[in-house]
Amino acid sequence: MKTNEIGKPTNRVDGRHKVTGEAKYAGEFNVPNLAYGFAVNSAIAKGKIKKIDTSKALQVEGVLEVFTHENRPGYVWFDKNYKDMDAPPGSPFRPLYDNEVKFSMQPIALAVAETFELARYAASLVEVEYETSPHDTDFEANIERAYVPEEYNSGEPPKPWGQPDEALANAPVQIEEEYTHSSQHHNPMEMHASTVVYEADGKLTVYDKIQGVMNTHQYITHAFGMQPEEVQVISPFVGGAFGSGLRPQYQLFLAVLAARELKRSVRVTLTRQQMFSFGHRPKTMQRFALGASKEGKLEALQQDVFAETSRFEDYSEDVVIWAGVLYKCENVKLSHKLVDLDVYTPLDMRAPGGTTGTFALECSMDELAHKLGMDPIEFRLKNYSEKDQNEDKPFSSKELRECYRQGAEKFGWKKRNPAPRSMREGHNLIGWGMAHGAWEANQAQASAKAVLTSDGKLTVSSATADIGTGTYTVMTQIAAETLGLQLDDVTFKLGDSSLPDAPLEGGSKTVSTVGTAVKSACDKVRERLFELAQQVEGSPLAEASLEDVVFEGGQISLRKEPSKGVSITAAMSHNQGKAIEEEVSSKPADGQSDYARYAHSATFVEVKVDEDLGTIRVTRVVSAIAGGRIINPKTAKSQILGGVVWGIGVAMEEDTVMDNNLGRFMNHDLDKYHIPVNADVHEVEVIFVEEKDEIVNPLGAKGLGEIGIVSVAPAIANAVFHATGKRVRELPITLDKLL
Ligand code: MOS
Repeated sequence: MKTNEIGKPTNRVDGRHKVTGEAKYAGEFNVPNLAYGFAVNSAIAKGKIKKIDTSKALQVEGVLEVFTHENRPGYVWFDKNYKDMDAPPGSPFRPLYDNEVKFSMQPIALAVAETFELARYAASLVEVEYETSPHDTDFEANIERAYVPEEYNSGEPPKPWGQPDEALANAPVQIEEEYTHSSQHHNPMEMHASTVVYEADGKLTVYDKIQGVMNTHQYITHAFGMQPEEVQVISPFVGGAFGSGLRPQYQLFLAVLAARELKRSVRVTLTRQQMFSFGHRPKTMQRFALGASKEGKLEALQQDVFAETSRFEDYSEDVVIWAGVLYKCENVKLSHKLVDLDVYTPLDMRAPGGTTGTFALECSMDELAHKLGMDPIEFRLKNYSEKDQNEDKPFSSKELRECYRQGAEKFGWKKRNPAPRSMREGHNLIGWGMAHGAWEANQAQASAKAVLTSDGKLTVSSATADIGTGTYTVMTQIAAETLGLQLDDVTFKLGDSSLPDAPLEGGSKTVSTVGTAVKSACDKVRERLFELAQQVEGSPLAEASLEDVVFEGGQISLRKEPSKGVSITAAMSHNQGKAIEEEVSSKPADGQSDYARYAHSATFVEVKVDEDLGTIRVTRVVSAIAGGRIINPKTAKSQILGGVVWGIGVAMEEDTVMDNNLGRFMNHDLDKYHIPVNADVHEVEVIFVEEKDEIVNPLGAKGLGEIGIVSVAPAIANAVFHATGKRVRELPITLDKLL
């Protein structure tokens, strides 16, 4: 009965709950006497609400109230300076604050009724007169007035190094190109929803779709001036998020407002179309100028980024940092400017900045390699960075060479004919492309509590989230391994603001952050359990020290004589029937920040392009990942597969189209906003290369939520070039751009 849980491809411990429908999401918690709210969204992009008439809506039987800026209670926005845990610099949007309209589809009213259908109908009866002002949503037309923000929330460009201009001018081989991509919107399966339960004493229990209950908790207390103990936020399951659920969204504010005013429980759920009303992956335009020697040594690198933001917040992301991490170059100049438009503030979307920055970087490098007549892998090996030049730090670990080697071998890269349009199969042109990437392997501060009861059952808890990534499973494995318990004897609890504090589940840092807290809470229980085991009558461990024993299969045994030991339940019987409880807060170790900490990927792609029709299929993908120690190969692989699928979407499908006349995204539904379906996804193989890292965190594991997506779109774009000889520098690569 061995239990070495770390490294096993364990099935999701919450899988059964999910597939049987037992798992409840924010919009599914039912309570008696629940009322339903439906938001009214602005029809204009900029201006003022001159008149808002709710009388027709209020005449409908079963309609309880319509909230607008005119009748909203005065106590809301108690704390105007409050910024949520993921807010960029600026002044956050406050729903129903006044009569000003700042973006199309801004929520301007909430109709509340006895049923969802009535609320929706009532919302349609709200009559609004606007005074419109000229809006500007045209990104391309405003690039010339791009500005450097006072403060970057992410992605601040490092200072230039070397002589970037001189080196570029002198480089015998050069390229200079612009790369662009569309705005993209989140489409998780679960729509944003908040169910606010109004308790008898006026306290609130809030079920919210969020990537971290503490953010919702803080938001409510600050926006409504409530005491922390008056609010409990619960979010046991999240139906996909990857950025859309980092910041509290307007359905939460509206539901809390209505519940407090009506003294009744209220739920507000957004429709799929309303999911397009609160932020998107920002459009960028990136200029790359590269210079190399004839032998393929990178001599100069210049990247200028222009990205969308709103008029009220300066949102920026990590677009420009990747060159300094991935390539050795002595002369580098980077810039990142913003273009503020009359849109809602952009928001994080899986590997924010990494997905788009790596696309442009890796396409430009492919162009340079092609111009040099070099194989793309050989070119990358020649310019391999042994340190992070942005911050002049060594890497904590970097097995990217091994990713190239194993990925190329699995893919069969050797058989590639480098000439574009040289490989075909019937009327299909075949293209093979590759790209590499990196993503941050950070650790933050978090707390966890471990409780071991006398029956040998362990419960570990932390106010973290599981956005579908596998938090429940991985934390259960870490706890079981540390105490030598069976998985079935361990329960992990999350998604409740009454649990020990944890940050948002974002930035691929949950295993690193919460996993470390879980491990150290369990380590403390382990020490106490060992002391108890020594007290058992005739204990073979009496003379041993903690280093001499192993915790395995519910036993604490001597490492050298495994047959001699004490069972965990026998040890617990010496604790007067009491449980062992340990709560710890863990933070990154001193000295960790002396190192650059990144996960790495190399992605190999095959596309088949119909020569007559221009249709593209991504027929094969091999993704080789260096992500430190893999806690669970199954959930880890799922993360990378998900990243590849989303990368196919980024490269070929996702595209929200702004009508600049209306200042409105036009394709705000899944009929016209395309994401990959099964027919778009063919063979995908994932390789995890071995990587030891004792610096990133005590587990040696790097986050895997985002590394899987970053190098997919450029690998596809490079494969399309190889197939067709045509370089498409604007995503998504749709067939009209090939013909
Ligand atoms: Mo992620 S975009 O850090 O949820």
